[in-house]
Amino acid sequence: MPSVLPRRQGIKPTIEALCQRLGSQQLLHSNLTASTKDKNMKLLPFLGLVGLASSLASNPISFENNLNYQSPSRRHENLGINIPLVFRRSLKRGAVPYKPSELQFTHGVASGDPYPDSVILWTRVAPSAASDKSNVTVEGTVDLYNHETEQYIKADANPICADWKVWEAKSDGSTVAKGTAYTTSDIDFTIKVEAKGLKPFTVYNYQFTICNSNFTSPVGRTKTSPSPADNLDVIQLAVFSCSNYPNGYFNAYGNAARKDNHDYVIHLGDYIYEGNQGGKRAHAPAKTIFTLYEYRTRHGQYRTDPDLLLLAQNSPWIATWDDHEVSNNGYRDGSSALNNTEASFRADGRMISVDQRKMNAVRAYFEWMPIRQVDLDDNLRVWRSFKLGNLVDLIILDTRNYDRSITSLGWNDAYIELIRNEASRSLMGSRQENWFYRQLSESAGRNATWRIIGSQVIFSGAEGAGTDTWGGYLANRNRTLKHLYDENIGNNIFLAGDSHQNWVADVAWVGKRNYSSSTGVGAIGVEFAGTAVSSNGRAGPISSANSAAKTRVDQNAVLQWQEGYYRGYFLLSATREKITTQFFGSPTVSTRNAWELPLANFTVLSGQNSLARPVAGAKVEAGFANGGTTTGTNLTLNTQTGKWQVIGFDNMYIS
Ligand SMILES: [Fe+2]
Repeated sequence: MPSVLPRRQGIKPTIEALCQRLGSQQLLHSNLTASTKDKNMKLLPFLGLVGLASSLASNPISFENNLNYQSPSRRHENLGINIPLVFRRSLKRGAVPYKPSELQFTHGVASGDPYPDSVILWTRVAPSAASDKSNVTVEGTVDLYNHETEQYIKADANPICADWKVWEAKSDGSTVAKGTAYTTSDIDFTIKVEAKGLKPFTVYNYQFTICNSNFTSPVGRTKTSPSPADNLDVIQLAVFSCSNYPNGYFNAYGNAARKDNHDYVIHLGDYIYEGNQGGKRAHAPAKTIFTLYEYRTRHGQYRTDPDLLLLAQNSPWIATWDDHEVSNNGYRDGSSALNNTEASFRADGRMISVDQRKMNAVRAYFEWMPIRQVDLDDNLRVWRSFKLGNLVDLIILDTRNYDRSITSLGWNDAYIELIRNEASRSLMGSRQENWFYRQLSESAGRNATWRIIGSQVIFSGAEGAGTDTWGGYLANRNRTLKHLYDENIGNNIFLAGDSHQNWVADVAWVGKRNYSSSTGVGAIGVEFAGTAVSSNGRAGPISSANSAAKTRVDQNAVLQWQEGYYRGYFLLSATREKITTQFFGSPTVSTRNAWELPLANFTVLSGQNSLARPVAGAKVEAGFANGGTTTGTNLTLNTQTGKWQVIGFDNMYIS
């Protein structure tokens, strides 16, 4: 049995250990370094030796192809998995590789973060749907990602090999990109590869196959992004947030997948929830999650919902996190239920610190989501941007975990009220904030028609005085508005989730710049903040939710439509002339069903910087629109059959 190795050892001692074990000191290069490229090069001489030492056809290059072995940060390599060590373990005498028939693609396929010439492909291939027991080695207060224990090595000496291939959907099926990748329990048997050499704005199919077998994954479908200079007619986005598994079924995902009216899925966060909720879709594991094993298991559970699997299989996702991917009301140093104090560490955190928990959550997120590792200087960076032709610049923010100043945590709300306007407070940290303003300027500078900003929390102030939104960081909000107004940057569309209700508002600097609520003149953009896929919103009956919406719209100058009863999502379509959005309601998430209720449609004309009037054509299905009427028709589409029917449900959630 290999001995336990020293903590946080670098690459060089590992390779030395490999040489010693194989009696090949003469092969050891004198100047091994830790960079990824160098690792590949320096390991090449070992490949012939490996062929003699083991029938296992793994090699370090194919481990490197699986991005999940890498650190979430390219500049923090120690947060990654030590590939030479995994490789060495695979050479263990007596190891019996898995037969293909012992393996399964446990959680479908997914793709994401489209570039003009590449896209991320994801799957998981494993002997079991469960996250490997070996993960218990990172429970408690042991070294993060240190798997070098006897129990761990016993658990999984054998890398699993999968080939993947990509072909153009409209083609004869000829492979245009392919590769081989290995996975092990170190990364919870996930596989994440970058398919390169693709054409812009093109639909591709892809599939994984267990090496040397006919065992295949489902066929996935994905799409590259346009090139930055491409003149597109239209881009369509399906926008989601807040999918709480025990609360209800992810019908919104399935409806969007079946209708198939989008190029890309945007998920603004709360893709998982960290709590311990019971019921017929009770959370697994049955506890509030803190450890890496627990976050992985939670991700695995969410990725069993058939509608999530369908949307993941058929669409590229661009995802970012909100608080619940880590913990409720998170900020850079804690959350409502885990404060950065010894007392909280002991009583609330099961002796797991705020930072350690965040790292566990981040690693599981990177393993289980088809997200790129941004070129970054720390492992928390998911803020990034996508140039979708010269039509849209999509700017994805992290307004939650990256570097957010303290937020309301339940026990400190009076304090946050006192400091909410301090100039030093930032929702995103100065580094991200400067990047954000630069992105806005550069987007305007290259004459992209629209700037679409994916925030988690609501920007416009539509929700009122909440402090766990941009409203708790007024200086950051004002700096953003000042930048947009001073630089004369228009056609700004903010997206938000987090609130579990629908809010559509003009983005205006009320009190600083003239703004007319009736015409929209003076605004600098529009915010579309969507309801939740399944998380709790405003309780019924619908009539009381509608009257609450009217009160809110009447009391808030920028707010033009509010609706709190329905779960759902919205579709956004961008052309040169206008943005249109269609909000859809799931009339119940207490069962898995294909019912979808159109709630309201909105238009933003290019150059107008506010919602077109009359708002929503003066007619909405639910909630309240400024100057409009609300008519609850319950005329609902079955996205499975294509049939329309007047239908209603008494119960929204799994009780
Ligand atoms: Fe949420």
